Amino acid sequence: MADRPYIVGNWKMNGTRAMLSEARAIDRTSQRVMKVEVALAPPFTLIHAVHREVEQIGVGAQDVSPGADGAHTGDISASMAADAGAKFAILGHSERRQDHGETNALIKSKVESAIEAGMRVILCCGETEETRDEGKAESFVARQLKSSLPETLDNADEVLTIAYEPIWAIGTGRTPTVDDIGAMHRSIKALLVDLYGEEMADQVRILYGGSVNADNAKELLAADEVGGALVGGASLTAESFLGIVLAAA
Ligand code: G3P
Repeated sequence: MADRPYIVGNWKMNGTRAMLSEARAIDRTSQRVMKVEVALAPPFTLIHAVHREVEQIGVGAQDVSPGADGAHTGDISASMAADAGAKFAILGHSERRQDHGETNALIKSKVESAIEAGMRVILCCGETEETRDEGKAESFVARQLKSSLPETLDNADEVLTIAYEPIWAIGTGRTPTVDDIGAMHRSIKALLVDLYGEEMADQVRILYGGSVNADNAKELLAADEVGGALVGGASLTAESFLGIVLAAA
């Protein structure tokens, strides 16, 4: 169903069981908005609880550790997250890169582990403001993706989504212009065609993320090659998140 807009909420390090009512409300309304595919990535501690509470929306993880289960204190493997109810994993988010020193090589091994565990990967990429000002945003993002995407891809629509999230737009209230988003998404699409061929590339949705809210969603989602949104702050309440879902319908 790669033609439906995909709206994903990333709760980041937010959420206790008190927030389950928000997930329930998001799920209830999403059941009536079948034109949009809606998903939530709560923290690990809530994946199973959200999974049990919802019927319609997808539930995912915000990260997984690479490799097989074993002696890695504090880590959570893709198969463990999948067992808790996660159908997808957000990988390579700039906050993981920044706060935990994640490299493209590490992200690639997480991507491979998640796909092996049967999860869809939402692979994040995005440049700093400085890189954009230097006119190097597209080449920077292409390098990030080339070094973290898997060598081969089957069932691309079920396995891979890309999220373009310019770092300077995350949580700042600032967004790129619709033209800049379109240009970046076209460039990502061209890279996917190069790597996997046109038929496969057509199945990969490319989301935009960074200060998306109910007021700007319609405009941002209309940009070229934008297949949905990855939403942080505005996904924390059902009211603000559903505003975006309805704008995408
Ligand atoms: O992954 C979502 C994200 O980083 C964007 O966050 O708060 O700007 O919507 P926010």
